[in-house]
Amino acid sequence: MKVFSTIADLKAEIAAQKAAGKTIGLVPTMGALHAGHASLVKKCAAENDVTVVSVFVNPTQFNDKNDLKNYPRTLEKDTELLQSVGCNLIFAPSEDEIYPEPDTRVFDFAPLDKVMEGKYRPGHFNGVAQIVSKLFDIVTPDKAYFGEKDFQQLAIIREMVKQLGLPLEIIACPIVREADGLALSSRNARLTDSQRKKAVTISKVLFESRNFAPSKSIAELTDWVIDNVNKESELRVEYFEIVDGNTLQAVSDWNQTDYIVGCITVFCGEVRLIDNIRYK
Ligand code: PAJ
Repeated sequence: MKVFSTIADLKAEIAAQKAAGKTIGLVPTMGALHAGHASLVKKCAAENDVTVVSVFVNPTQFNDKNDLKNYPRTLEKDTELLQSVGCNLIFAPSEDEIYPEPDTRVFDFAPLDKVMEGKYRPGHFNGVAQIVSKLFDIVTPDKAYFGEKDFQQLAIIREMVKQLGLPLEIIACPIVREADGLALSSRNARLTDSQRKKAVTISKVLFESRNFAPSKSIAELTDWVIDNVNKESELRVEYFEIVDGNTLQAVSDWNQTDYIVGCITVFCGEVRLIDNIRYK
């Protein structure tokens, strides 16, 4: 496994691999890696000759400076994990390497980026599109891997690839959970022991909610989920929306479409956690 910090060196390595006829897979990450990331890397390694993993805490997607400051940075440990799951090339650039000057590009993914995370984290998806489009440009992968945990991000990346006409395939990977159901997240490391125990309520309520669809209406089920998560002390739902899995727009009737997903964001103390569940 090789580690690169400059674009020029990584590009030269990838050009050599491509000249040798190798296929390239990319897994973009912000590090602080866990089994969720590892599942993407394993899938990538199984489906491509060369697996590239980027590790870069992208400042342009953080609308909360505190969140950026507190984001865990564990490159040494990440490198060990990546070695064990089939990564070939790590790309861990500095901020100056990626943004020698401010990125002023403005993307528009309406209506996908106007709801949920887009509404509560203004500018977030523009920053994600800035970094992911740069990574696609540098790595020129045949396939790129994203987790369904960030359901809206996945839809937006697919839309970006379509808009830019990029010749690559986006591969969606299922959510990896702790044994008790909590979706793995780099932010879980910031929960206290007591918060960690309470955070399980999020996935528990989501799973349970599936038993009530479609006997409860969408409006009733939405309220039920919000109330039951909020009942747990220290948990505060920011939003829960039941949406069309393709357009991400709210649905009002279970028969409106055949792909329906519930997306939730919850503050557990100061830590913002997201999760989602497919209803149909
Ligand atoms: P990060 O949060 O590090 O996540 C990197 C990838 O891992 C994303 O595609 C995310 O959906 C996936 N992932 C995280 N937790 C997961 C879990 N429990 N199960 C399955 N997949 C999981 O998402 C980002 O970084 C950034 O926005 C990035 C795309 C790298 C751009 O900066």
